[in-house]
This record gives sequence, structure tokens and C-alpha cells, in this order.
Amino acid sequence: MATTQIVTSDTKASQNTERVPDPCIVVIFGASGDLTKRKLLPALYHLEQANLLPQEFAVVGVARRPLESSFAPDMKEGIIAGGGVEENDPKLAPFVDRVKYFAMNFDDGTGYEKLKKQLAEYDGQFNTRGNRLFYLATAPEYFSDIINYLGEHKMAQPEKDKDGNAPWVHTIIEKPFGHDLESARALNDEVNKVFHEDQIFRIDHYLGKETVQNILVFRFANSIFESVWNRNYIDHVEITAAESIGIEGRGPFYEQAGALRDVVQNHVMELLSFVAMEPPISFQADAVRVEKVKVWKAINPIKLEDTVRGQYGPSTIAGKPVPGYREEDRVSPESQTETFAALRLEIDNWRWAGVPFYIRAGKRLEKRVTEITIQFKQPPMHLFQGGECHNSEAIEPNLISMRIQPDEGISLRFGAKLPGPSMDLSPVQMNFSYADAFGKSSANGYERLLLDAILGDGTLFTHRDGVEATWALMTPVLEAWKKNPIKDLPNYAAGTWGPAAADELLAEEGRKWRKL
Ligand SMILES: NC(=O)c1ccc[n+]([C@@H]2O[C@H](COP(=O)([O-])OP(=O)(O)OC[C@H]3O[C@@H](n4cnc5c(N)ncnc54)[C@H](OP(=O)(O)O)[C@@H]3O)[C@@H](O)[C@H]2O)c1
Repeated sequence: MATTQIVTSDTKASQNTERVPDPCIVVIFGASGDLTKRKLLPALYHLEQANLLPQEFAVVGVARRPLESSFAPDMKEGIIAGGGVEENDPKLAPFVDRVKYFAMNFDDGTGYEKLKKQLAEYDGQFNTRGNRLFYLATAPEYFSDIINYLGEHKMAQPEKDKDGNAPWVHTIIEKPFGHDLESARALNDEVNKVFHEDQIFRIDHYLGKETVQNILVFRFANSIFESVWNRNYIDHVEITAAESIGIEGRGPFYEQAGALRDVVQNHVMELLSFVAMEPPISFQADAVRVEKVKVWKAINPIKLEDTVRGQYGPSTIAGKPVPGYREEDRVSPESQTETFAALRLEIDNWRWAGVPFYIRAGKRLEKRVTEITIQFKQPPMHLFQGGECHNSEAIEPNLISMRIQPDEGISLRFGAKLPGPSMDLSPVQMNFSYADAFGKSSANGYERLLLDAILGDGTLFTHRDGVEATWALMTPVLEAWKKNPIKDLPNYAAGTWGPAAADELLAEEGRKWRKL
């Protein structure tokens, strides 16, 4: 298919320097973990490079092991390796001087009192004025303990001074937020006893991606797309979140999770809400939240026959043997955990009724790609049948695809006349690539989310209502799957596009997944 590239006239990234926040300390619980070194510290450093952090700032990592002397150098390594930063970058050494470590056990109450005192000392040293962002980068079983101890030790709601002013405290909570509706509600109740909802930032790192935020710009800042964004013109929508890797040694975690909990309930449902929501009245957190929740609540209960589960079996990828899921370390040889999930959803509202949303997500699929495809209806083709046109079947419906990762961009497929004396047709593609238009960015998506959480802007975070609405949709599916185990697992070979039943889900309605 012929393609056309699009470049922009102004390729500068936006730098809104009005967003520099108050002095503060970012306290990361679980700071010796993979997420902190690989993503969080590089993201904080990118903010520092862009002058988006206050001068009065510090990071305090908290974890169990005694890493006082190695933590800061280790984080420096992470910033260089994961952040595309030169070792002699002039801001790096002064930044690393403000990276501190505190060893404690999350379930030891006395540790929090000591941590509180230590943070107060850092307030004196760095002039951070008692403002805190607590980042819970831990396994979910620690969320409740940490939140409750922060409450007990008055670290969540600091006292007001004599003028009635109090420092602010915000908290980011990592995923997974609950493992079903009941546990998500219970965790929400617990967290809301200690923190007000506007202090809580439930993070989904997909929402930090420029390409995800751009869905709203694409839809609502361009009149040509929004006017056809409905059931009158759209045939169906596909969302694929595919990973080529397996479970990477995280057997115990994945056995409890599976594809539906790990990716669909959060990332995929967020993407779906951005594609399907009505225009919010503003980009304020409440306005966006209301529109997202309306979409999730308009989805019909999901029928078992509209779901597909899969689990990868052993295979050879690029000449190397790879194990099946059941042969992975610390995975049950009889595991029923799904490494692939596909669903057909119906959003029963005026914009979308009758337009199926097909979603699929999984591990060990053919390639790593997250993409949203909007397929439009085929126009009447009578005009092109017979006469001067010899290939009317070559024309394919219009299609907009939004590539979230990798090769971020958007493409539009439309029909064109083949050069020559007859009226023959060919599909062509117009491509917009983020990297070509704006240059390659070393940002990892956490920059925007960390900055927003420090500033107290919850627009790109999940509210209590949203978490419960998405779990309300997924929990009956999980229950139905539990009641109806499948016998033919594994049912797809590692490195393929999942089980045949996923293709049948679309084939039954005369459709097929777009080739990615
Ligand atoms: N890694 C990613 O790319 C990624 C992406 C998205 C979301 N997440 C989420 O982010 C969270 C953290 O992920 P991760 O990969 O960084 O986890 P991880 O590598 O397993 O790190 C766990 C951390 O928790 C600490 N810890 C465990 N038990 C403790 C205890 N009783 N007391 C004190 N510290 C304790 C560990 O400290 P010690 O080392 O001292 O034991 C370590 O710092 C998880 O909820 C995960 O789902 C991670």
C-alpha cells in the first residue's frame, strides 16, 4: 500500500513553565524495586532538566534492606541508563545529592515515626516545607498497611500552623488497585478513611503517554474527525495491547493476575474511555472523570460467549525455544490463568449502540504493539462495479489507526485512483509519526504523571468511581471463567496472535482483526 508521511511546521515540545510546583519531598515506598530505578528516578530527573521541579526538592527512597550508601549511586546509574542522560550532565550531581534513603519494614509501626522525624529534618535541610508526595511503588499487599500507618502517625493530614495553613500531602498508588470489585471497594474505603479523594492519585502509566492524551486532541481539536465519530459512520473499533515477552520470572504475581486483571481492567479500559467518551466540558479532573465513567457504565454486561481466554504453549521464536506458560518458574502445571484475553463489548448509548468494540491483550504474542483501530463503514460501491473500474474489490473501508506504542503515531487509510487510463482503485495510507514530527523523546510517561500528582491535578488519574466501574464490568467475567474452566489449555503457541477462538469472535460477524 502506498504511504504518505506527515511532518509539522513547528516541532518544539511544549514547555509550560507555569507548572513548577511547590517545594516538596517525594517519598517512594518500595524504592529498591525495579520501577523506581528504571522509570521513576529517570522521570524525576527529566523534570529537573526541564526546570519543572522546585529548587527546594528531595527524594527519599524507603525499602527494607539497608541501602543507605548504595541507593543514590544506584539511582544515578538508573537515570543514566534509563533516562538517556550523560554522566557529566551538569544538573545530575546536585540532583543526586538530594536523593536519600531510609530503611524500614512497611509493617513496623515504629518505623513510620522515625521516618516522620527524618523527613522533618530534610525539610530543614532542603527547605521543603512539609509538603509530601508519597508514592506507593510496592506490591499491593502493602498498600493498606502503609496508608493506615501514615494515617496513624498523622503523616496524611498534617496539622495547621497558627495562621491556619497546612502543608499538602498527596499519594500515588500503583496498580493493581484491587483484584475484583469487592477488594477494590474495600481498598477505596480504607484509603478514603485516611486521605481525601483529592489527595489520592491512582496511577495508570498509560495515561502518561503522549499518544493516549493525544486521542482527546485528535478527537476534540479537529472538526473533521469528531463529526464522523459515531455509529452512523463507524463499523467497529479494535483495541490491541500485545506484548511479545512472557512473564519474565514473575510467576507468583501473574498466577494471581492474568491478562484481564493485569491489562484489560485498567490500561485497555482507559484507552476505550478516551476513544468513546463525550467531549468533557474542560480538562479539569472532575469533568473528564464524569465522561469516562459514563462510558464504562453504558457498557452492557459482558456475555461469556463474547469472551475468549488463552494461554501460551511452548514454541520457537527467532530460532530460540521458549517455554509455555505452565513451564515458567513458579507457575502451576495445571494453571488456568489466562495469558490472553479478548472481549466483545457493546456501549449502549446514542453514539455507539450497534458498534462492537473488540479488545484483546496478552503475552507472548507475535509482536509488542498497542494500537486502536477505528474502522469505518464501507461506502456504496455500485459506482465502481463494472465499466472502467476492474478492481472494485480492492478498495477497503476507511480506517484510522492510533499507535500507542511503539512507533507512536496515527495513520489514515483511504481509497485512491491508481494512475492510468482506467478507474482502478487502491487503498493508500497517510501516516503521522510522533518521532518524525517532534523528534524522539526520552520521556517514559511518568514525567507528566509525577508532575501532575505533585501539583494536585488528578485529570490523568483514576478516580474511585472509575476503578469501581471497570471492576464492576470485569468481575462477572472473572467469575464466569472460574466457574467454566477450559480444558484445552495451552491453546496458542508463543509468538502467535492468540487462540483461534479470538479470530472466530470477529469472524462470526464477518470481520477480522487488523493485521498489525
Ligand atoms: N516494574 C514496573 O515496570 C512496573 C510497571 C507498572 C506498575 N508497577 C507496579 O509498581 C509496584 C512496584 O513494582 P516493582 O517492580 O518496583 O516491585 P519490586 O521490584 O518487587 O520491588 C518491591 C519493593 O518493595 C520493597 N519491600 C517489599 N516488602 C517490604 C517490606 N515488608 N518492607 C519494606 N519494603 C518492602 C522491596 O524492598 P527490599 O528490596 O528492601 O526488599 C522493594 O523495594 C507494583 O505494585 C507493580 O505492580 C511496576
